[in-house]
Amino acid sequence: MSVFSARDYDGHEQVVFGSDEDSGLKCIIAIHNTVRGPALGGCRMWDYATEDEALTDALRLSRGMTYKAAVAGLPYGGGKAVIMGDSKTRKTDALLRAYGRFVDSLGGRYITAEDVGTTVGDMDVVRETTRFARGFTDGTGNPSPATAYGVFLAIRGAVEHKMGTSDLSGLRVAVQGLGNVGYRLSAYLAEAGARLFVTDVRPEAVERAVRDFAAVAVAGGEIYGLDVDVFAPCALGAVINDETVPTLGAAIVAGAANNQLAEDRHGEALRRRGILYAPDYVANAGGLMDIAYEDSENIMEHVGKIHRTLKLIFARAEVEGVATNAVADRMAEEMLGASDPIAA
Ligand SMILES: NC(=O)c1ccc[n+]([C@@H]2O[C@H](COP(=O)([O-])OP(=O)(O)OC[C@H]3O[C@@H](n4cnc5c(N)ncnc54)[C@H](O)[C@@H]3O)[C@@H](O)[C@H]2O)c1
Repeated sequence: MSVFSARDYDGHEQVVFGSDEDSGLKCIIAIHNTVRGPALGGCRMWDYATEDEALTDALRLSRGMTYKAAVAGLPYGGGKAVIMGDSKTRKTDALLRAYGRFVDSLGGRYITAEDVGTTVGDMDVVRETTRFARGFTDGTGNPSPATAYGVFLAIRGAVEHKMGTSDLSGLRVAVQGLGNVGYRLSAYLAEAGARLFVTDVRPEAVERAVRDFAAVAVAGGEIYGLDVDVFAPCALGAVINDETVPTLGAAIVAGAANNQLAEDRHGEALRRRGILYAPDYVANAGGLMDIAYEDSENIMEHVGKIHRTLKLIFARAEVEGVATNAVADRMAEEMLGASDPIAA
């Protein structure tokens, strides 16, 4: 396994490997960039097939966190941890405490939180051995409400830019995935008078949205081609790809899912089709803002900035004739170069 020469190493400041024989912990913490502040990012527990796969995931995810925190204007850098193993069978309090000790040994360069395979309840255990953890059951533990509100604002910003109105009544929105974020997003949209078309692999989630929001249920793949104003991916990554771009019926893509573009070039493919894309890590940054702030008062105020940031990105992309995801990346890189991260 190569590390420094790994394809995704991409200037990482530090990558550390931790293990604890007694609890079976095997983890990797990737710290991509701390220019703007300590690296903040969740801890993913996943049954990786190989160590290479775990390292690649940690590297990619931590770099993504640097960009997300920078564009969100947060005084944090990017990092991510992965624990190797099936979270359903291998996760124990002893393993989480061992992980916490390992996070603690980094002296605050990395701050951990929940992610896929870990929960806010797990962070309660992790904090027994480190103070560098965020998001607990007794506080603002669940980031989904802030994420959903941010995505709602992203949709409003995109509608304002593309359609010249902030009135969402009658807006036709296709929501893919009705989990923690998708359901709450649907509630905001329904409240604003939007007409919802929904899909989920869990029939009970669809039934609930049909009942609560008078949404129209749509079968799996049909969601892409619907003649709607907005497509909101809130389930999986890579849904904007060579197959779906030509079939998309929406004028706007704005949702919560991470890594919506299968590849960067699909942002340009959307632009060429005249579809406005709200870059995922800008639109879904509410969850990161939630864990970045320990007092809840500032969270929603900060989430409100997603609307303004996106409108800047849309305007810049239009003037320069480039894809919105390219503008977002450039904006993040500019923020990383700014001398005063808090003022930036
Ligand atoms: N929760 C947050 O605060 C947050 C923050 C940033 C990004 N995200 C991203 O947003 C997305 C949704 O997050 P969440 O917390 O709501 O997750 P979740 O697991 O609660 O919900 C995901 C939903 O998608 C459904 N789904 C899975 N595969 C599907 C498919 N093929 N078609 C349709 N539906 C499918 C699931 O049944 C589930 O209801 C994820 O990509 C996540 O990484 C979440």
